Amino acid sequence: PDAQKCKILKSYDAVDQRVKVSGWIHRLRSSKNHVFIVLRDGTGFLQAVLTGDLALAHQTSTLTLESTVALYGKVCKLPDGKTAPGGVELLVDYYEIVSLAPSGEEAFTNKIAEGADPSLLLDQRHLALRGETLSAVMKVRATLLRYIRRFYDEEGITEVTPPCMVQTQVEGGSTLFKLGYYGEEAYLTQSSQLYLETCLASLGDVYSIQESFRAEKSHTRRHLSEYTHIEAELCFLDFEEMLDHIEKLITKTVKRVLEDPVSGPLIKQLNPGFTAPEMPFMRLDYKDAITWLVEHDIKNEEGEDFKFGDDIAEAAERKMTDTIGVPIFLTRFPAEIKSFYMKRCPEAPNVTESVDVLMPNVGEITGGSMRIETTEELMAGFAREGIDPEPYYWFIDQRKYGSCPHGGYGIGTERILAWLCDRFTVRDCSLYPRFTGRCKP
Ligand code: 4AD
Ligand code: MG
Repeated sequence: PDAQKCKILKSYDAVDQRVKVSGWIHRLRSSKNHVFIVLRDGTGFLQAVLTGDLALAHQTSTLTLESTVALYGKVCKLPDGKTAPGGVELLVDYYEIVSLAPSGEEAFTNKIAEGADPSLLLDQRHLALRGETLSAVMKVRATLLRYIRRFYDEEGITEVTPPCMVQTQVEGGSTLFKLGYYGEEAYLTQSSQLYLETCLASLGDVYSIQESFRAEKSHTRRHLSEYTHIEAELCFLDFEEMLDHIEKLITKTVKRVLEDPVSGPLIKQLNPGFTAPEMPFMRLDYKDAITWLVEHDIKNEEGEDFKFGDDIAEAAERKMTDTIGVPIFLTRFPAEIKSFYMKRCPEAPNVTESVDVLMPNVGEITGGSMRIETTEELMAGFAREGIDPEPYYWFIDQRKYGSCPHGGYGIGTERILAWLCDRFTVRDCSLYPRFTGRCKP
């Protein structure tokens, strides 16, 4: 009978029908009378079995891992007690080889050897991506971004695409990637925040999902040179309202990702202990975090007791977050250790209306703040950081022509994924990670 051409995910519902499925040979095993194949096509995995003459043909032919094939046969429901993806098995009655992958020296398993050096695996990233773990993380990533967009859509927040090539810094000169731009100096953007701010008076609340670039010289688990930055800017709200918004975004999106039929089971596999965070998140003021760190005998970068004004660097931040064990809104950082654009707290002008969202096992996944509203204060911010305000004329105009209370935040896509999927490093959450010394493939 005619075979119904279908993707693997659809074949799970085609019990007792004859189908044609095309894909890559993910696993291959043969016994005397059977050849077992696990076929992969990006939508799922399908267990297939060749028996009789077909199996014999295979003994003399040359099926190899990662060859592309089209398999024809009947989809059979597996008997109770046996498991396979989708609960089905394909009884193959015919197959075509589309492209044969090499055997011997050049065989796939030799390229992607188990336990291989991580840097060799990164050289072979294009092949490693075919593995179950990396492909699962990439699927969760796609679903996460879909539900983030859905949330913004429901909230009436408009998506924009700010430029990547810019002439202003946002998060400090030391991590700027410089490039020649028709004889002028330009940079790769560190954050789209300033551009989003200019959209408020035009489009109202806005967001962007855009690459950001940071020349981070040190190797850490959570720093990339290029990452996907989810940023939003909201107007006519106060600090508490912004915190509520971030909380709602995270809890609603994570719940949807966990309930999604594709990403839900993948997160269960990758991160069996994961539970969705509940509102409200714990709120911890920076000054209380300093007290907490001292009480728990966690030291600062100099190996001394933390004091007000210290930056809470990665190691200390992670110790604190892991010990507390729940999502934290770390709020009201001192102005001196934060960026030029952050608004000061009216009740305590030495600190800012700022927030970092910290998650267990990762630490900071989000940074945000309310923004300075007046030209005068903004100029003082530039002066404090030694930034020439001239290239920021367009950003300053935002204060001149109808300033408004506003705030926003940026979420590191790879960081939120590392938390969701329990990955040791953000590198495992990027398709082709870029970090110090790595720009290929
Ligand atoms: O805390 P950051 O530097 O804040 C900003 O860029 C703001 N201008 C965002 C805004 O308010 N619109 O970066 C925001 C987030 C961090 O919390 C982190 O999750 C992620 O971006 N991030 C990085 N992720 C991977 N590699 C890096 N080098 C990152 N630097 C920041
Ligand atoms: Mg930050």
